[in-house]
Amino acid sequence: MPGSFDVKLEETVYLPDPSVREQSWIGDYDTEYQRFLRDPDGFWEGIADELDWFRKWDHVKKWNPPYAEWFTNAQLNITHNCLDRHVKDGRRNKVALIWRGEKEGEERVLTYRQLHRQVMRFASALKKMGIEKGDTVCLYMPLVPEHIVALLACARIGAVHNIVYGGFGAGALNSRIRDSGAKLVITSDVGYRRGKRVALKAIVDEAVVNAPTVEKIIVLRRSDPGPELFSEMEVDFYEVLESGDETCEATVMDAEDPLFILYTSGTTGQPKGIVHTCGGYMVGAYYTTKYVFDMKEKDVHWCTADPGWITGHSYIVYGPLSVGATVLITETVPDYPDPGIFWRIIEDFGVTIFYTAPTAIRMFMRVGEEWPDKYNLDSLRVIGSVGEPLNPEAFEWYYRVIGKNRCPILDTWWQTETGMHMITTMVGEPMKPGFAGRPIPGVVADVVDAKGNPVEPGTGGLLVIKEPWPSQMRAVNNDDARYRAYWETINGYYTAGDLAVKDEDGYIMILGRSDDIIIVSGHNIGTAEVESALVSHEAVAEAAVVGLPDPVKGQMVKAFVILVDGHTPTEKLKSDLIYHVRMGIGPIAMPSAIDFVESLPKTRSGKIMRRVLKAQELGMDPGDLSTLEE
Ligand code: PRX
Repeated sequence: MPGSFDVKLEETVYLPDPSVREQSWIGDYDTEYQRFLRDPDGFWEGIADELDWFRKWDHVKKWNPPYAEWFTNAQLNITHNCLDRHVKDGRRNKVALIWRGEKEGEERVLTYRQLHRQVMRFASALKKMGIEKGDTVCLYMPLVPEHIVALLACARIGAVHNIVYGGFGAGALNSRIRDSGAKLVITSDVGYRRGKRVALKAIVDEAVVNAPTVEKIIVLRRSDPGPELFSEMEVDFYEVLESGDETCEATVMDAEDPLFILYTSGTTGQPKGIVHTCGGYMVGAYYTTKYVFDMKEKDVHWCTADPGWITGHSYIVYGPLSVGATVLITETVPDYPDPGIFWRIIEDFGVTIFYTAPTAIRMFMRVGEEWPDKYNLDSLRVIGSVGEPLNPEAFEWYYRVIGKNRCPILDTWWQTETGMHMITTMVGEPMKPGFAGRPIPGVVADVVDAKGNPVEPGTGGLLVIKEPWPSQMRAVNNDDARYRAYWETINGYYTAGDLAVKDEDGYIMILGRSDDIIIVSGHNIGTAEVESALVSHEAVAEAAVVGLPDPVKGQMVKAFVILVDGHTPTEKLKSDLIYHVRMGIGPIAMPSAIDFVESLPKTRSGKIMRRVLKAQELGMDPGDLSTLEE
C-alpha cells in the first residue's frame, strides 16, 4: 500500500446561483455539518424520524468496531415507506414509475397505487411458492417494471434479494447464486439492447447447473411467442403474479435484518457479497436522495444505472421511491438509435434530476454538442455523476452543454459498501471540477498516510471514513475476515481502497484505486477475476491483467498471457480468449488487448507485479524493483 505523495492541484471554482441554496432542503452546508458534529446520533435520529417505523429504536447506534448496529430493536419495512406511506398520504395517483422501452412509443406508467398493488400481489405469490423471510432470491432481469416489482416484493416479505446485473455471464451468475444460497431465481427470456435480443434465460439455464439451492425459476416472457417452459422448476412470471392475493401486509422486519446482498469485485479471489440491512440502509438511501439530490416530490428522476449495481438499488429504487418522486427507467442505451436519445428522453418526460456516469459524458463529448442542442433540456434542475472521477474537461462540458451553466453538478463518491453517497458538493455550494467535494453532513472522511495520520492539503494519501454511518455494509457474506479487513487495515478506520488528495478548503479529489481493481465504464473489475477466467481456458498457463487509460471508458483491460506448451499464439486464439472471458464473467470484463508473453514480472514470493507491466505499457518508471525476481 502506498504512503503519501505530492499532487499538483489546479483549481477553478464554479459558483451556483444563490437561489439554489435558498430553495434547497440542505440549506447551508457548514451549518448542517456542524450540527451533525455536535450530535451525530441526534442528527441521524432526525432523519429517521422523517420515515415511518412500526416500532422506534432503543438506541440510534451501537458501535462495537468493526461491527455496527443502527436503530437497535426498531421495526420497519422499507416497502411500507416506498409505497404504503405515499398511498396513504394522498399520493396514490401520482406516477411512481415510467418505463420507456427502446422503441419510440413503447411506454408504461405505474402510479404509486398500481405499483403498490402489483408488489403486494407478487409478494403474496412468492409466499405461496414457499419463499420465507430470510430466504435469498436472485434477480437476473432486464430493466423493465417487473424487475422493480419483483425486488420490492422480496423486500416486502423479508426475502433477501441478490440482484445480478444482466451483463454478467453464466460463471459469474453461478458463483453469486451459490455464495448467496439463492432458493429462487427470477429472470426474463430476453432483454433488448440496440435493437437486438439479449438472451438472459439461456444464461440462467447454464448458471443453475451446480447450484443445488435453487428450487424454482420464474421467467418473464417478453418475446412473442414466448419460449416454452419445460422443466418442473420453471414458472411463468404472470402466472405467478396472478396466483397472488390482492393484498399482502408488509412483513415486520428488525432494523438489522438483511435487506439485500450485492456482489462487488474484490482484489483477490471471488467477488464479495456485500450485505446491507433494512433500517440503516433505508435511512441512508432516503437521506441522500432527499438532501444530496435535493429531491422534491414533483421531481422526475432519471438515474441511468441498472438495478444490478448499488447505484440502481439506492437511486433508482429505494431512495427516490422513499421520497415519493417519479422514477424514470429505460432499457435504452446512450447511443442507440442515435446519440441524441438521452436528451430526447429528458425533453419527452421532463426529467428534472439526471444522474449518469463519466464514461457516458465523455462519449457524448466526443459525438458533439449538436446532439443535446437539438432538444429542450430546460426541465433539468440537478445533474449528477458517479462511478469514477469526473475529469475537469468532462465537468466543464456537462455543466455548460447539459446543465446550461445553471444546474449544480453532483460528483458523488461512494461505494457498494457505503450504500449511500459519502462525498460530494451539496447543491448550492461552490463546485470545483475534478474534486468530488466534501464529506456530506453525517460522514467523517479524511485522507491519511499508511499509518492513519492525516496528510497535508496537496499531499496524496488513502481515503478513509473515520466514523460509522447508518448504511454501512454489515458483513461480507460468508467471509468475516474480508469484512474485518475494511476496518482493520488502517487504525480502525474504514478503508475505501481509493487514493485521494484534499485542498485547503477540505475538498477531496479522488485519484483512483489503491489496489488491483480496474474501473471500466464505471464498473469495478477485479484483476483476479479476469485472470482466473483466462487461466480456466485450456491454452492458458498464466495470466496477468492491468488497467490502462482509455479516453472514454476511463480504463480498459489489458491482459498478458503465457500459453501452455504446444499452443500457438494466433489472432484467432486472442479472440477465443476474449470470448471465453465474455462467457465467464460478461462483456464488461472483456480484455481490449491481449499480449502473449514468455514470462511475467513477479516478486520473489511469486506475486505478479502488475505495476511493472503497467509502467512498461505507459512508458513510465516502474518504481521500486527490489522485490522483483530477476
Ligand atoms: O474507486 C471509486 C469509484 O468506484 C468505486 C466504488 O465502486 P462500486 O462499489 O461499484 O460503486 C460504484 C457506484 C457507487 C470507488 O471505490 N468511484 C465511485 N464514485 C466515484 C468514484 N471515483 C471517483 N469519483 C466518484 N464520484
